[in-house]
Amino acid sequence: MVSFDRAVAVVTGGGSGIGRTTAVEFADRGASVVVADVDVEGGEETVTEIEDAGGDAIVVETDVTSPADAQAMVDAAVEAYGRLDYAFNNAGIGGEQAPITDYSAQKWQSVIDVNLVGVFNCMQAEISRMQDQDTGGIVVNNSSVLGKVGFETSSGYVAAKHGVLGLTKTAALENGETGVRVNAVCPGFIETPLLVEGGITSDSEMREQIESRHAMNRLGTPTEVANAVLWLCNDDASFVTGEALGVEGGYLSQ
Ligand SMILES: NC(=O)c1ccc[n+]([C@@H]2O[C@H](COP(=O)([O-])OP(=O)(O)OC[C@H]3O[C@@H](n4cnc5c(N)ncnc54)[C@H](O)[C@@H]3O)[C@@H](O)[C@H]2O)c1
Repeated sequence: MVSFDRAVAVVTGGGSGIGRTTAVEFADRGASVVVADVDVEGGEETVTEIEDAGGDAIVVETDVTSPADAQAMVDAAVEAYGRLDYAFNNAGIGGEQAPITDYSAQKWQSVIDVNLVGVFNCMQAEISRMQDQDTGGIVVNNSSVLGKVGFETSSGYVAAKHGVLGLTKTAALENGETGVRVNAVCPGFIETPLLVEGGITSDSEMREQIESRHAMNRLGTPTEVANAVLWLCNDDASFVTGEALGVEGGYLSQ
């Protein structure tokens, strides 16, 4: 197992789903973890899970739509642990499900704010810190398979996730020689509370229809995404930057 001993990782949206699992996996491999979430209760549950397994973590109440919160999150990591090595920008919401013609302007703005502006805010604070460290750092953004293709009734989400890939490539270009690598993961549909809220896992017909869009004919697990994030953070990926790594069971293999 790859070790992240004495490293420091920030995980946004670490209070649930993919973020929680990734935070736990980082801690299992020796990293100290900053669990950043607007849902402090969820974040505290993640910290408890990490501490019960003998790991080290703190929770920082963070709304990624706020540049001040994003900066405070990075400052908290540095204050608690002395530096910031890894950042997984994962916080996200599903947004409204409606055709473009019916999509509410307010809900459009809120999904763009969390899923796209939030990633920008966090990268701005994280990369500034990483550039100031001799050891650099590694950023992984959570896009989606819907950062590569469209999905009917999810225009806000799809636009934000495509935007995350543009941000990732731009940050990779700007940091080619600064010691900071920047990549994205693009998960297929993953079994988390997000899909329950979207009505996908609670409706068996819809679930089967979504599963069948993946060549493997199933949903992915949070651990399968966390494994990809940890690989991108590992030295084995030392020449990988600006990449949009699919973790999607063959969703796009058609
Ligand atoms: N579940 C999937 O099928 C799937 C597929 C591809 C990509 N993703 C992406 O993975 C990420 C995590 O999703 P998940 O499925 O684990 O969902 P989830 O709902 O289980 O977790 C999302 C977390 O983000 C937090 N969050 C929401 N808004 C926030 C804000 N403004 N500031 C800080 N934290 C905030 C929530 O409180 C929650 O803890 C999202 O970016 C999502 O778009 C999910």
